Amino acid sequence: MPSSPNPALPAAHTYYQRHIFFCLNERKNGEDACALHGAQQGFDRCKSKVKEAGLAGVGKVRVNKAGCLDRCAGGPVAVVYPEAVWYTFVDNDDIDEIVESHLKNGQVVERLVLPADVGR
Ligand code: FES
Repeated sequence: MPSSPNPALPAAHTYYQRHIFFCLNERKNGEDACALHGAQQGFDRCKSKVKEAGLAGVGKVRVNKAGCLDRCAGGPVAVVYPEAVWYTFVDNDDIDEIVESHLKNGQVVERLVLPADVGR
């Protein structure tokens, strides 16, 4: 049974240790959205690095696509659960640091955390 990184959650209630969701939203009317700011590249990079590091799978890490997460002003954005930490990123180095530090070792990458007042 996977262990829970969050003491408030019994291990029996978890399936993945950590789950990261990337907003890949694009708007047909051409309005700004994460898809216009490298969201797909970030998702692809994360998926690849998680797999390469042997972190993918049950009891470990899952990387998922998401639609709009309603924090568009900070786009591209991704959120990691169960810690509920929101990130923004600009390049592969940022993604690599999120994978190595947070997804693998549970350490939040403070420099990439989305400020609390960033919304839609
Ligand atoms: S378009 Fe990405 S959070 Fe809204």
